Amino acid sequence: MPQPVELVSDRVTLSIPCEADIDRIAEVCSDPAIARWTTVPSPYRRENAAGFVGTVVPDGWASGRLCVWAIRTEGVLAGMISIGDIRERQGEIGFWLAPEFRGRGVMSEATRLAVEYAFRPRPDGLALKRMVWRALVGNTASAAVARRVGFRWEGVVPGGAQQRGRRLDEWRASLRPEDPREPASGWPELPDREAAP
Ligand SMILES: CC(C)(COP(=O)(O)OP(=O)(O)OC[C@H]1O[C@@H](n2cnc3c(N)ncnc32)[C@H](O)[C@@H]1OP(=O)(O)O)[C@@H](O)C(=O)NCCC(=O)NCCS
Repeated sequence: MPQPVELVSDRVTLSIPCEADIDRIAEVCSDPAIARWTTVPSPYRRENAAGFVGTVVPDGWASGRLCVWAIRTEGVLAGMISIGDIRERQGEIGFWLAPEFRGRGVMSEATRLAVEYAFRPRPDGLALKRMVWRALVGNTASAAVARRVGFRWEGVVPGGAQQRGRRLDEWRASLRPEDPREPASGWPELPDREAAP
């Protein structure tokens, strides 16, 4: 099983979310855009953050199926990033960022760190052979991050996503170790960003 590990770049540190982060996670996850585009509970309560930090994160690392990091920059928890659904040398990237940290490249930098960890050979990485990105159709901000770091467009999967009991259409892309980590061609023109509800 992978050991919980800290990943560091110029601007961001990825480290394991801990009890001291619970209130901040609960605060950020009440953002309407995070509710709109992810599968976090909505409304998001403190107990959801406590369960995430106390159970989901440690169980994920212990099982080897889910690696979760808090994204820290300027001494603050700016967001969360994970590699989930890890099996048969494949994993899925997932992330959210607090509104005040958006538009600065923080998530692109964090995603690069997580992707390199995913592909690095064991024991310093997960030795995965494929990373998957999935987003609800219309999540242009997420697509821009995936495209920027090199994910290759795969298409739309009708009804491919599930969010709070509803099936919704999703966008899919993937990245393999040999793909260049630069904006990939072949993506459709991304529609303008949807305003937060
Ligand atoms: C998806 C989400 C994480 C994207 O955040 P983001 O701030 O747009 O992503 P980044 O931190 O990579 O910032 C990229 C922006 O910063 C700019 N930027 C500034 N400096 C940069 C740098 N050094 N590197 C890359 N981008 C930089 C880019 O130009 C880009 O803006 P643009 O897309 O308008 O060109 C954020 O919108 C979010 O949390 N949404 C709600 C939750 C969600 O949708 N999660 C994903 C579910 S699939």
